[in-house]
Amino acid sequence: MNKLELGVCYYPEQWDPSQWRDDAAQMAGMGLDWVRIAEFTWALVEPRRGEFNWGWLDEVVGILGEAGLKVMMCTPTAAPPKWLIDEHPEILPVGTDGRVRGFGSRRHYCFSSDVYLHEACRIASEYARRYGKNPHVHAWQIDNEYNDHDTVLSYSDAARQGFRRWLAERYGSIGTLNRTWGTVFWGALYSSFGQIELPNALVASPNPTHALDFARYSSDRVRLFNCAQAGILRKHAPGRDITHNFMAGSFEFDHHAVAADLDVVGFDSYPLGNLLGSTLTEEHKCRYLRTGAPDYQGFHCDLYRCQGRGRMWVLEQQPGPVDWAQKNPSPADGMIRLWTWAAYAHGAEAVMFFQWRQAPFAQEQYHTALHRSDGSRDQAAFEVLQVAAERKLLPPAPRAQAQVAMVLDYPSIWAADILPHDANFPNAQIHREWYTALRQLGVDLDIVGPDADLSGYALVVLPQNTILSAGLAARLANFDAKLLIGPRAGSKTEDLHTPFKLAPGPLADLTGVRVLRVESLPDFAPEAISFRKEAPHEVTGWREIVETDHEVIGRFRSRYQDGSPAVVRSARATYLAMLPGQTLLRSVMRDVLDWCGVPYSECPPDLRVTRRGPLGFAFNFGDEDVVLPERRQFLVGGQVVPPHGVSIWRDE
Ligand code: GAL
Repeated sequence: MNKLELGVCYYPEQWDPSQWRDDAAQMAGMGLDWVRIAEFTWALVEPRRGEFNWGWLDEVVGILGEAGLKVMMCTPTAAPPKWLIDEHPEILPVGTDGRVRGFGSRRHYCFSSDVYLHEACRIASEYARRYGKNPHVHAWQIDNEYNDHDTVLSYSDAARQGFRRWLAERYGSIGTLNRTWGTVFWGALYSSFGQIELPNALVASPNPTHALDFARYSSDRVRLFNCAQAGILRKHAPGRDITHNFMAGSFEFDHHAVAADLDVVGFDSYPLGNLLGSTLTEEHKCRYLRTGAPDYQGFHCDLYRCQGRGRMWVLEQQPGPVDWAQKNPSPADGMIRLWTWAAYAHGAEAVMFFQWRQAPFAQEQYHTALHRSDGSRDQAAFEVLQVAAERKLLPPAPRAQAQVAMVLDYPSIWAADILPHDANFPNAQIHREWYTALRQLGVDLDIVGPDADLSGYALVVLPQNTILSAGLAARLANFDAKLLIGPRAGSKTEDLHTPFKLAPGPLADLTGVRVLRVESLPDFAPEAISFRKEAPHEVTGWREIVETDHEVIGRFRSRYQDGSPAVVRSARATYLAMLPGQTLLRSVMRDVLDWCGVPYSECPPDLRVTRRGPLGFAFNFGDEDVVLPERRQFLVGGQVVPPHGVSIWRDE
């Protein structure tokens, strides 16, 4: 599917039924295609165990469908009803501090609870049987934002029991576990699986393999929960697409694995909501306060599009100020349109806005919507109307495979969190920095998992692959793409041990590098790097002392080990022994792109350019006009891209 569909999240239960018909007519009148409903409706549909009140939801589905809208029904498992919690308080999640997280908001369940898994499947079956074949219900969302409010890791009794079973299955014998975890260290030996506790609230840091296994176990529970509901929906709702709304910037479970059980990967896009909590500098936060970081939308769309095997939806798009960040600024006028077109350019099939009308009561009163609570149109509604009109001007345009792939591996992110060695190690953020450096050069990317088929790429970048399986290393060795490899790659085995022949472990032959020592340096004590013939660049944080017989194209200038290699090039790989800042990173990227023959062009810092089939897109995140270099056949906008503006053209 190549057209842009538009939709909205709607909570009819918050409004008087007399308003539903008018809402539906207005939605259709605006050109919306989709309406997502019902993710928090369990207590309304089943007020007491076994007693069902479907009438109102039947009516809503009928009204929306008759208005010509496609309904996306959600299973309501993100908000179990109070009566269920009273019946089974053990469903509640437990925080890292060991305290039970109670009823009264949402996501108050523990993924490890088999009782809850059973109840979630029961209610999902009821919804699926009721609406699975309903002609107005065209797609299903399972639950809502699995890690919202940090609920993937839970330290309940159910988690303890489940983890012990998972370990027994993984290791077979307690002796194998002791060896693999290295429990001889600090004398933490176990004599049975029944002795093993959860890795929270300890005196000092837990055994790292223990912590990594708990992260893996918790991720597997999310997959199990999602997969069980997907199976129910496939049975009762044949032919309907099944999705879930992943979060932006969330790495707590293996999204590649969970996505394998979905038809379309959805995600929720809050570019301003996520800006202030990000690791950007204050200068950048200030610069992008009303636009969001220029690569926010692109990064998440590219990641989730690849996880969806080409199929991706934005299921919640920020419409104005949110209510949940530290500070909640308004987007600049034009940004809702820009974000929508950016999502489409990066492969979205549909963009849905959160939400139809601002709630006048309860937790999210300050959260804006397409309409204010009195029903009047807010800024976002006007921008959506504009997109609805503009989309008619575009031909179908499938997004092609990029020339550059970035590998993102969730266990590597968990591993570096567990053993950071540098309290400010940017970890997941490294992917976004490398992405930005390439996108500023106009290069398109696919963001793939470690098991992806890498054929057809000219360059594969591995920004943070602490754990690199022998399988991936073998695949990297056996094709001809060039590689750009960040520090720490292959530095730990899958059990979180140091490889026998030191880092980069299975990448030793490809990179021709041996890491002798790692250190991390405070920001007040930067080192200098000489790269090619450029003026020295400053670098702080992570540093590796490496030995190599290969070409050294960047060196540390330092009071310690002066001249040690910082950038090493072998026949197939460029290896970085540090984490460059944006300027050096861009120089490295240019050098690497020249080396592997991938074309690029310099863009002004706040402009982003991308392609979708025959269409080119330019997005201006800055405050000044940008004039595009050549005349083109413009379909939307023109050669001058105004601040917060969009231009779309077609290749002649
Ligand atoms: C999302 C959530 C929605 C709503 C929204 C507000 O995280 O899925 O239900 O709360 O945030 O921005």
